[in-house]
Amino acid sequence: MAGDVVPAVVNLDLEGPRINRHVYGHFAEHLGRCIYGGFYVGEDSGIPNEGGIRLDAVEALRALDIPNLRWPGGCFADEYHWKDGIGPKADRPAMVNTHWGNVEENNHFGTHEFMALCELLGTEPYISGNVGSGTVAEMSDWVEYLTRDGDSPMVRLRKANGRDEPWRVRFWGLGNETWGCGGNMTAEHYANEARRYATYCRDHDGNRLYRIAAGASDFDYAWTEALMKQLSHLGCRRVERPLYQAVSVHYYTITGSWEHKGSSTEFGTDDYYATMARAARVDEVLTGHANVMDCYDPQREIGLVLDEWGTWWDVEPGTNPGFLYQQNTLRDALVAGVHFDIFHKHADRLVMANIAQTVNVLQAMILTDPESEALVLTPTYHVFEMNKGHQDAAGLRVDLPGRSPSKRIGDDDLATVSVSASRKDGKVLFSLSNLDAEEEAEVDLDLRGGGVGEVTARILTAGALQAHNTPERPDAVAPRPYDGVRPTGKGLRVRLPAHSFVTVEGAVA
Ligand code: AHR
Repeated sequence: MAGDVVPAVVNLDLEGPRINRHVYGHFAEHLGRCIYGGFYVGEDSGIPNEGGIRLDAVEALRALDIPNLRWPGGCFADEYHWKDGIGPKADRPAMVNTHWGNVEENNHFGTHEFMALCELLGTEPYISGNVGSGTVAEMSDWVEYLTRDGDSPMVRLRKANGRDEPWRVRFWGLGNETWGCGGNMTAEHYANEARRYATYCRDHDGNRLYRIAAGASDFDYAWTEALMKQLSHLGCRRVERPLYQAVSVHYYTITGSWEHKGSSTEFGTDDYYATMARAARVDEVLTGHANVMDCYDPQREIGLVLDEWGTWWDVEPGTNPGFLYQQNTLRDALVAGVHFDIFHKHADRLVMANIAQTVNVLQAMILTDPESEALVLTPTYHVFEMNKGHQDAAGLRVDLPGRSPSKRIGDDDLATVSVSASRKDGKVLFSLSNLDAEEEAEVDLDLRGGGVGEVTARILTAGALQAHNTPERPDAVAPRPYDGVRPTGKGLRVRLPAHSFVTVEGAVA
């Protein structure tokens, strides 16, 4: 069905802030089958692996240019004691993962295995330290163990475990959700703790830590304010010598209630729109936290990190409720596309974002079958792949002078057309989504300050919003070459079928 033509003005010669590649970051927790049975199958597995790390998963994820991987949690981080996860595996003590399924954790995947995984993926580690049930000394030792050169007690321990050279670790989380599973603290109490922990997370030798204070949930701007206040001591004034370099926030796309979040695959059009409206509110969340930060840090030296985001549905029937295993449909892919457009818009403050989680948990890139070697790429995986050209590109502002077509969803107006653009190495990349479940739309890209030559386009869509990939139909939702783009005198006209995500790339002429 024909829909509206949406004009969109893009100035190709007015480069905005750089889109930090780390907004395409990932998150892997000791939760369900993310690590064990997902990334890590053990050396004795029949599945091809290196040091127990599943090689087909590595190969698939390398195609995404993952910039960083957050580990070991999540809630698990605040009950994780890293010294239990080093040394000979047979000697590592077990523990109970009380947050996620009350299952036994044998600590076979620990610091060395995680760093090996990062090396295989070609990604930067983001370690989330234990504030909730750990100690300052324990966290300080971990930093020393990983990053110190020369000779010291922790360096000797690392060497005894087979690693001579220090690793380079930049991103360091000071706890996780300390308002909840990470210790149930008040904002003011945690802000002091963050300063204390940050003090003893030292920069060893050439390694400079980027310390990330555990931030708010959703719209809790008071939490961010408490963390920012602690950086200045002076009320709403410029930050001096920050003890932590960033504050985080978590925002999930959850509709319904905690008890009934809805099925990942069986949903109606109303559920779909409610999901999209909730996803789009990440704009409000980022704007709200950034506004608070601007008050204390107008120079924007402190980063905002959205280190957990994504859809959260009921677990798949018959699976462990504590394992958060869910399918992933075209709806999830469109949620990802909308998030990225909004992340690009916030490039001046948002330095990192991490989808929850990479394998087999929540809005995953990869689903593996516990019974077989099958590995499936999800629709969300494809959005990460189609969008990877935005990493470290200069953002280009997209102005919709008219209004995007929209739908009234509860109290929200959901814009059903979403566009973002960036420029890198003489090329421009446009990402366009049509969230309308039934109507197609057309976007008239009015390009100013330059033009584009030949373009290539790809589309991600399917006959139904509920479409998803399985071992039997691994490409039910997969990108395909797209010919729905044509030049106009002043730019490009892009046709967007209902519920579709399209990327268009070309050299700037
Ligand atoms: O990603 C799953 C959980 O969600 C994380 O462990 C926690 O930080 C959040 O509540």
